[in-house]
Amino acid sequence: MTSLPIRPKGATGLPDAFGRVARDLRVSVTDRCNLRCTYCMPAEGLPWMSKPEMLTDEEMLRLVGVFVGLGITQIRLTGGEPLLRRSIVELVSGMASLSPRPRIAMTTNGVGLERVAAGLASAGLDRVNVSLDTVDREEFKKLTLRDRFADVERGLKAAADAGLSPVKVNAVAMRGFNDHSVADLLQWCLDRGYHLRFIEQMPLDAQHAWQREQMVSAAEVRAELEQHFRLSEPPGERGSAPAELFLVDGGPETVGIIASVSAPFCAACDRVRLTADGQVRNCLFARGEADLRTPLRDGASDEELAALIQDEMWRKAKGHGIGGPGFTQPDRPMSSIGG
Ligand code: 5AD
Ligand code: SF4
Repeated sequence: MTSLPIRPKGATGLPDAFGRVARDLRVSVTDRCNLRCTYCMPAEGLPWMSKPEMLTDEEMLRLVGVFVGLGITQIRLTGGEPLLRRSIVELVSGMASLSPRPRIAMTTNGVGLERVAAGLASAGLDRVNVSLDTVDREEFKKLTLRDRFADVERGLKAAADAGLSPVKVNAVAMRGFNDHSVADLLQWCLDRGYHLRFIEQMPLDAQHAWQREQMVSAAEVRAELEQHFRLSEPPGERGSAPAELFLVDGGPETVGIIASVSAPFCAACDRVRLTADGQVRNCLFARGEADLRTPLRDGASDEELAALIQDEMWRKAKGHGIGGPGFTQPDRPMSSIGG
C-alpha cells in the first residue's frame, strides 16, 4: 500500500491509482440465500448478518446517492439473493429516483422472480442476470441442494414478459456436476432468447475448497460447446466488457465466456462494491474495506462519506493475482460481497 501515489486533492469521481475510474456500483442488499450452490456456500448456510449490522433502506439509499454523486452510472443489486430483502422493490424505486438516474440491474438466482418481476420493472429495474448452471432438474438439485429449477424457469419467463431485457443467464461450469451439459444449457437459452454467459469459478466459496486444477476453464467450456455449435468471434472491439462473446452458428445469437481467472480483465475494471453492512470494497478480492456505516450513523456529511469512498478506491490493487504467490482468498465469502 505504501507505494501508491497520494490521491490528488480535489479530484472528482472515483479514480484509482492505475488510471481506472469506477462507474459500476454493486450493492449487496442481503447476505442470505435460499439456494446452496456448492461453489458458494456450505449446505448448512452461513452465520447471517444480524439486522442491526445491516444498513436500513434509508441508509443504503443515502450511500448509493453519494456514489451517484461520485459518477456511478450503473448499479447492480446483488446478494446473497437480493429478492430475499423484503423491501427490494422500494429500494429499486429509491435508486431510480436518484439524479442523474443510474441504470439499475440485478443479479438473482431467479427463484422468487416470478412474483416480483413486473413490480421490479415498474419500480425502475432495467435488466436482470439470472444465475442458472444447468437445465437438468437432477443436476440443479445436486448443484444447489434445492429442488427449485421449475421456479427459476418461471422466474426467467416472468422477467422476459416484464421487459427486463435482454434477460441474461450466468452459469458456472463445475467439474463432475454440469461440465458435460453446458451445450444443453446454451440450446435452452437460445430457444428462449436468453443471453448466456459462462464464468470461471473463482476462489470465493465460504468453504475455501477452490482448487485451480479443479476449475473448468473458459477454454474447456468453449471446447465442449464447440462439440455442438460453431463459435466464431464477432467483428469489432471487445471493449471493457469482461465476457468474450462468440457468435453461435454464425449469429446473431451469442454466448459469452468470462475467463475471470485464466485471463483476468482487471485492467479494464470499473467496479466498486457496497456490502449489506455498509462496507466499501474496491475489488471482489480486496483484503481490506472501508467502513461507511459507523461514520454514517455518527452523523457524517455526504462530503465526508464521499472522501472515504474516494480514499478506498485509490487503494484498489492492480489485479486480483489469483494463483500468484501473494494471493489469499478474501475473508468474506461471495454471498456477502455480491456478484
Ligand atoms: N465463482 C464464480 N462465480 C460465482 N458466483 C458465485 N460464486 C462464484 C464463484 N466462486 C456467481 C453466481 C452468480 C453470481 C452472483 O456469481 O453463480 O451468477
Ligand atoms: Fe445463493 Fe448465489 Fe451463492 Fe448460489 S451463488 S448459494 S444462488 S448466493
